[in-house]
Amino acid sequence: MNIKKIALISTVAVAMAASAFGAAHSPIEQRQAAMKAVGGQMRTLGGMAQGKVAFDDFAALSALEIMRDAAVTARPLFPVGTEMGSETRAMPEIWADGSDFDAIMGQLIANLDTAIAAEPADLASYRPLFGAVAGTCKACHEKYRAPEN
Ligand code: HEC
Repeated sequence: MNIKKIALISTVAVAMAASAFGAAHSPIEQRQAAMKAVGGQMRTLGGMAQGKVAFDDFAALSALEIMRDAAVTARPLFPVGTEMGSETRAMPEIWADGSDFDAIMGQLIANLDTAIAAEPADLASYRPLFGAVAGTCKACHEKYRAPEN
């Protein structure tokens, strides 16, 4: 096989892989999956804050780290052009001039970083750190997430 042919085959393979990925995982599906992963940690984190789950410093820290990684993943998955479609609850205001959507997402990540760095050892020190995290979920959802239909 000559070099040109090998080069062509690999270019086609890359293009095919890229389009298959795009078709199976649109940004909307990707961010919903990332948000689901963020929400998935709430059972542990919210449960501990409410006293429904026994506080465990290691479990809290792990859950905070998973949530932080999921939020970092979600942050760039709201590109212009994905505001349309009935399958998304993201509101068009996200892409309006002066939208503070990205700032709130940044605040969520900062609050998670703060909680992780603090390594809360007991429930009393954990609760306010969790409260700040949960407050950013609410702040953003109230403004930028449409109700379930
Ligand atoms: C900066 C904005 C923002 C922040 C902060 C935020 N969310 Fe979201 N979240 C959204 C938007 C917008 C959607 C809808 C995405 C879509 O449908 O395309 C969403 C969707 C979700 C979903 C549904 C995912 C699905 O489709 O099944 C869950 C669960 C969720 N968020 C949990 C959380 C939790 C828990 C937090 C805080 C720890 C949080 N979110 C913080 C904006 C945010």
